[in-house]
Amino acid sequence: PVLILLGPPGAGKGTQARMLQKRYGLVQLSTGDLLRAAVAEGSEAGKAADKVMKSGGLVSDDIVIAILRDRLAAPDTAKGVILDGFPRTTVQAEALDDLLAESGQQIDAAISLEVDDEAMVHRIAGRYACAACGEGYHDSFKQPQVEGVCDVCGASNMKRRADDNAETVAERLAAYHRQTAPLITYYEKRGALQRIDAMGPIDEIATTVSRAVSKAT
Ligand code: AP5
Ligand code: ZN
Repeated sequence: PVLILLGPPGAGKGTQARMLQKRYGLVQLSTGDLLRAAVAEGSEAGKAADKVMKSGGLVSDDIVIAILRDRLAAPDTAKGVILDGFPRTTVQAEALDDLLAESGQQIDAAISLEVDDEAMVHRIAGRYACAACGEGYHDSFKQPQVEGVCDVCGASNMKRRADDNAETVAERLAAYHRQTAPLITYYEKRGALQRIDAMGPIDEIATTVSRAVSKAT
């Protein structure tokens, strides 16, 4: 299956995508993670993306679509994918339809995580993750059992993201409303949209998301 997670920064796309990956064996494809890897590598695409990401705007469609196309071509995606943070513009949504059509696939569901902007700033400001395995944590909502030590892999190397500061977050939210929110209507029109209230506790949302996935696949 092919699932899309839509939602503003901090809505919990990454948190829920990792849960679906564990539960259903689907592969999480986060364009944010792929872009951060390109930045770390110092590739041409990474250099161009770095500036834009620091400002909180969206990286150009050409770069993001090329990165996603490469990743979708890898054999591990055959079992199914959860797209986390892609598509983010109408151009990307149309490119995704074309890419999937090439292999006779289509989207099974677009799950929209609906949240309040105000709460998002707090979620993002408290966020950190394990540098070794990527598991996400939060200063007030999800702390590891032993401070500084990852519950999943035992590493003790936590990191925070460069774009998780108040100014950049405000711009990321604005970019979401301007460029990405129209995709909700795009998927609603074709009957693929599932709206989920994503303001509750992580586990409750995970249950609702799982139900939506079972219904769609
Ligand atoms: P990206 O990495 O995709 O970031 P984002 O969309 O801003 O989303 P986040 O990762 O901030 O949030 P999330 O929804 O995954 O929330 P999380 O689960 O971590 O993109 C970064 C940048 O890359 C963009 O700004 C853009 O420049 C570029 N980019 C990426 N894709 C692109 C594309 N397709 N086109 C163009 N540019 C692109 O949760 C947040 C925190 O809250 C965590 O600490 C978590 O533990 C906690 N939490 C989660 N759920 C709950 C809950 N229910 N209750 C309480 N706390 C919770
Ligand atoms: Zn870890």
